[in-house]
Amino acid sequence: MWGGRFAEGPAAVMRAINASIPFDKRLWRQDIAGSKAHVAMLGATGIVSPENAAAISAGLDSVAAHYAAHGVDEDMALEDIHMQSEARLAEAIGPVAGRLHTARSRNDQVATDFKLWVRDAIDEVDAALSGFQTALLIRAEEHADSVMPGFTHLQSAQPVTLGHHLMAYHEMMLRDRSRFADARARMNLCPLGSAALAGTGFPIDREMTAAALGFDGPTRNSLDGVSDRDFAIDYLTSATQCSLHLSRLAEEFVLWASQPFGFVALSDQWSTGSSIMPQKRNPDAAELVRGHAGRILGCMTALMVTMKGLPLAYSKDMQDDKPPVFEAHDLLALSIAAMTGMVESATFRTDRMRKVAEAGFATATDLADWLVREAGVPFREAHHITGRAVARAEALGVMLDAVPLADLQAIDPRIDARVYGVLSVDASVASRTSLGGTAPLRVRAAIAAARGGET
Ligand code: ARG
Repeated sequence: MWGGRFAEGPAAVMRAINASIPFDKRLWRQDIAGSKAHVAMLGATGIVSPENAAAISAGLDSVAAHYAAHGVDEDMALEDIHMQSEARLAEAIGPVAGRLHTARSRNDQVATDFKLWVRDAIDEVDAALSGFQTALLIRAEEHADSVMPGFTHLQSAQPVTLGHHLMAYHEMMLRDRSRFADARARMNLCPLGSAALAGTGFPIDREMTAAALGFDGPTRNSLDGVSDRDFAIDYLTSATQCSLHLSRLAEEFVLWASQPFGFVALSDQWSTGSSIMPQKRNPDAAELVRGHAGRILGCMTALMVTMKGLPLAYSKDMQDDKPPVFEAHDLLALSIAAMTGMVESATFRTDRMRKVAEAGFATATDLADWLVREAGVPFREAHHITGRAVARAEALGVMLDAVPLADLQAIDPRIDARVYGVLSVDASVASRTSLGGTAPLRVRAAIAAARGGET
């Protein structure tokens, strides 16, 4: 493509380090779409004759059909998808193909293609996250009343419902989707027409190409247009945040599937066995979702570090922008699909969850609150009295609601029989009716609101 200035071809290693075709061939659909929009504009403005523009456009369709049927050829002499497609076009329609690259550069071309790809990736992630949310809603509704221990410091803290716990992840996914949507809205300006860096002297119509490619309009500064990769970084930060959430749920599944917890049985489809220990059912998919979060974060770091020292406008370092985005996207798509499958198919051991919730004196706060409410005791003093009641239960080897009234009254005479009404785990969760609380009626209302699109 630049043979006019060069007497010799590149060294083999130069060719190898320079080529992006092994990975950027993934942009072929976007590259064809960008070229078609460009040539339609060249024809409409008279920069290229309407006949030539029509021939090029038809030729691009034939290149696309070739790619769809046979995949993209990986000709290392043709550096990238842009040169590959132009060479293919020349094979298909002859020298008129050489008019396509009028009034553009690979710099605005690659920025446009990559933006189009990231935009599609966001739409794909959004649909997958919506499916994951549906799975969470279904399981949360099923378990709106199922009592489980709520933890802080991984110590039994207060009973909650499994439905409430699952809905916490629904909230995280809402935020993740809104982060992706923000990124999409912000990026949606078209760099095509920025040319190499300075714009062009040809009378191009940037509004026209932007509209044809579904952008809200053209970018406003050509230097920024070719050198901006914020959109890729926005995608990666959103993906990282989302993967952290998936990783936390994955970690809970790993814990819950362990024998000491026994809160969940993963279906056969979502477990693996051990080659030497026949009793094992390992939560490998959950562990890999947890692991993938680390790799996605690594991709984000890679692109940020690539960009941090680059002067305007284009530098070849920027060719390295694509592998981390592609890798993160593939890992994220797999992680969402895997967590969706696990949530859909898990058997929650609600009997076991209830037992653990009851065993951990998790209603101690309810006793303290009762003393405040019914006996007018200051909370700090109520906390102390409750501590003694817990110690008494421990000494007797029973749960809090099985400590005899006489024992409780020996600790504090203001306690009466009504207290047993708040000491069961069911009474405890039912009482937590504050906005956002774990009471089953609140959980059901949250599910209904989410279904109605209020949240
Ligand atoms: N393969 C390049 C990339 O992916 C295309 C842009 C090349 N531009 C240039 N001035 N060498 O970034």
